[in-house]
Amino acid sequence: MRVLILGSGGREHALFLKISASPLVKELYIAPGNGGIPENQKIELDVCDFNSILKVIIDKKIELLVVGPEMPLAAGIKNFFKEKIPALLVFGPDQHSARLEASKVFSYEFMEKANIPTAKSHVARNLIEAEAVIKNHSLPLVIKADGLASGKGVSIHHDTKEALDKCSEIFNDKIFGSSGDSILIQEFMQGKEASLFAICNGKEAIYLPTACDYKRVYDHGQGPNTGGMGSFSPGNILTQEHIEKAHTLIVEKVLREFNYTGILYTGLMIGDNTMNVVEFNCRLGDPETQCVLPMMETDLIPYILWSCGKENAPFRIKNNETYSVPTKPGYCINVVLTAAGYPSSDYVKNISLKFPDELPENLHMVHAGTKFTNGAVVSHGGRIASVVVYDKNPNIARDKIYNFIDSLKKLNDFSNLHYRLDIGQI
Ligand code: AMP
Ligand code: GLY
Repeated sequence: MRVLILGSGGREHALFLKISASPLVKELYIAPGNGGIPENQKIELDVCDFNSILKVIIDKKIELLVVGPEMPLAAGIKNFFKEKIPALLVFGPDQHSARLEASKVFSYEFMEKANIPTAKSHVARNLIEAEAVIKNHSLPLVIKADGLASGKGVSIHHDTKEALDKCSEIFNDKIFGSSGDSILIQEFMQGKEASLFAICNGKEAIYLPTACDYKRVYDHGQGPNTGGMGSFSPGNILTQEHIEKAHTLIVEKVLREFNYTGILYTGLMIGDNTMNVVEFNCRLGDPETQCVLPMMETDLIPYILWSCGKENAPFRIKNNETYSVPTKPGYCINVVLTAAGYPSSDYVKNISLKFPDELPENLHMVHAGTKFTNGAVVSHGGRIASVVVYDKNPNIARDKIYNFIDSLKKLNDFSNLHYRLDIGQI
């Protein structure tokens, strides 16, 4: 089978590595990819330029399109190809289902109607409506821009004035453009976060290994939110009991309402006796995927084909009411290396990077914001690469990662790089 992956981040490099290992795949391309991908498998294009993607699909005789990021899904890539090339398999949800991620107001209104547990929220469509809600709201409170905002659209406020100023920036200064035409004002939820990934085929769900990610830039959850500084799998905050409950209370309702296909990523807040949805995403998590896929015991492609309605149910394990993919024992941990200054937009750019030719056993690198120019890897984004280790013992996995990063310091100037030291304390 000939496969094209869309995207350029760590998630897509991890997908590339997993799909490369499938005996069912004869040719594999990635567009646009990054510095970790062999040059002859990369195609330069914009993931939202559907006509250019169409040309590549015809030219390379692609049979399966695996969509990594949310933007093309929200822009309707599945609907586009259903019309242009009905035989093409597209892994991901249609445009209507992708609104679960693309519009937080849409997602909240669906959850409220379906009685899915989430934070109590108010919708505000202008500054006057926002002020009326915020003046009487308990603190802290959470403000969420409705539309996609590259992970920057959510802020937590401990002060009413600060929350009102934020609303003014959103409605008057248009800091999120049209993504801020409406907002959610939400109660703050206490607890620990975990990510639950279901592969869906319109009727049923099969669960991938769970994961947790680290959102703040500094150790112990300090500093601003980022795209994610690291992750581990399984996300053992989530017990099998949580998964069973999430299946019945959340995922089945999404399946019924949307005939959902592709990945349904449910971000959960787990409290002492509570489990609430923080968000839905219509794709795999980044940086969770870098840990989730190596924990799978089996090939990913049969599950993707099943999700696309092409094959019968692949090998899966039944736990009470839910099915899961077979998972390895042990842990996978991922530490992200970023450019100094990230997540602000003036992070250090064009950092040259050197990696050793030989890597320790069960350790691999996943590239994110890198490019390959003049025979060298150079940074091309804030999150640069991940060091990923699998081991039966999480402490050994952690030691292996941090020892390896220390060895990278002999090859690279780390004054331009940053990483967290507390990832994977399981
Ligand atoms: P979201 O894009 O909705 O997932 O929000 C980004 C991050 O903000 C989440 O992963 C949480 O860490 C935090 N967050 C969002 N909503 C809430 C909430 N209601 N209570 C506490 N933290 C939240
Ligand atoms: N890890 C958070 C996300 O992918 O949205």
